[in-house]
Amino acid sequence: MSYQKELSVGRRVAAEAGALLKNFLGRVTQITHKGRTDLVTEADLQSEKLILDALERHFPGDIVLTEESGQHGTSSKRMWLIDPLDGTINFAHELPFFAVSIALQVQGRTVLGVVYNPCTQEFFEAAKGSGAFLNQKPIRVSKTDKLIDSLLATGFPYTIAQNPDEVMKRLNHLIVRGQSVRRTGSAAMDLCYLAAGRFAGYWEQDLKPWDTAAGALIVEEAGGRVTDFEGNPFTPFFKTVLATNSLIHEDMLAALRV
Ligand code: IPD
Ligand code: CA
Ligand code: CA
Repeated sequence: MSYQKELSVGRRVAAEAGALLKNFLGRVTQITHKGRTDLVTEADLQSEKLILDALERHFPGDIVLTEESGQHGTSSKRMWLIDPLDGTINFAHELPFFAVSIALQVQGRTVLGVVYNPCTQEFFEAAKGSGAFLNQKPIRVSKTDKLIDSLLATGFPYTIAQNPDEVMKRLNHLIVRGQSVRRTGSAAMDLCYLAAGRFAGYWEQDLKPWDTAAGALIVEEAGGRVTDFEGNPFTPFFKTVLATNSLIHEDMLAALRV
């Protein structure tokens, strides 16, 4: 199956939602809190509505799981996983680094993913078995095989105040073993940057399926490896994610042990 229609709708919808977000940048007036540091802006909600409406119009009957309004539909083998704005804290502070993330799973396996950053106009996509692309050009993970030469990325969960020690221990281990560590504020973009060879490794815990579904497929299709912190093959419903260019995977797994 090549999922051509799904890919072309996914692309179009990501582009429209991205344009909507960019229009809102610097003009947000409504921000609510889902948690102590977990925000929702009117842009998250409007982007989500735009994506939901389009998917319901083009693929009625498919399940759609979105960050802000949960699961729509119940009885289908197909499920879309949507993050209408990945990088809300960046967005709320006018940092132009955020993305729309759209993935489709069929019988529990991710078959396509698109991630679009409207500020850099970088469009990442992959369909299972067909490679990964940035603005239609094929991308590959980096060839770095030593941690000390690797630029790494991570993120901190919204729940960090409840258990900072474990997260900080892992950061401690990797910050001294890698070349440097970045925290961009968008898990979807972290994964896509890894797929494009910019980062060699990325880890994070306590993410949600809409954060990682599209990006994880894009990494795998670019030749990378994605697992949980124990080395099990990744699904977006796992609690931890380690994505690498595959060459530094074992070293990172060892460094993540706490
Ligand atoms: C967040 C971002 C961030 C990651 C957080 C995510 P949101 O998503 O991906 O990089 O560290 O844990 O929840 O809330 O901006 O969609
Ligand atoms: Ca997110
Ligand atoms: Ca989000």
